[in-house]
Amino acid sequence: MYSEKVMDHFQNPRNVGEIENASGVGTVGNAKCGDIMRIYLDIDDQQIIRDVKFKTFGCGAAVATSSMATELVKGKTIYEALKITNKAVMEALDGLPPVKVHCSLLAEEAIHAALWDYAQKNHIVIEGLEKPKNDISEDEEEEEY
Ligand code: FES
Repeated sequence: MYSEKVMDHFQNPRNVGEIENASGVGTVGNAKCGDIMRIYLDIDDQQIIRDVKFKTFGCGAAVATSSMATELVKGKTIYEALKITNKAVMEALDGLPPVKVHCSLLAEEAIHAALWDYAQKNHIVIEGLEKPKNDISEDEEEEEY
């Protein structure tokens, strides 16, 4: 049912933890399943993501997608990170079962929320970044799977 990569990232998630005095922190939940994700970003003066950590109270697919998402954003600029979609994360994991696709949205939204927090703290505008939602379940029906 799950790809080897999903199982690997679920069993050995990368970048678990938190960052003290993070440049940006984002927390999102999905009220339907009750899962919660928090992502910490450490961003330098060049707007490059030097470090990223996550913590989740979520299902296995949420753990695996967040693990992969953190790997994909590390070392990227904030604009490159903004472009990383849940679809790209799923592709990098060789896919997810259809009923688990919504789980991959937690990581994408938490990254956006952390970037939003960073922008607020630094009084900057990140073009293309919309104000994140705390609960992503409202949007689910609109997503194309
Ligand atoms: Fe809630 Fe997967 S079931 S994130």
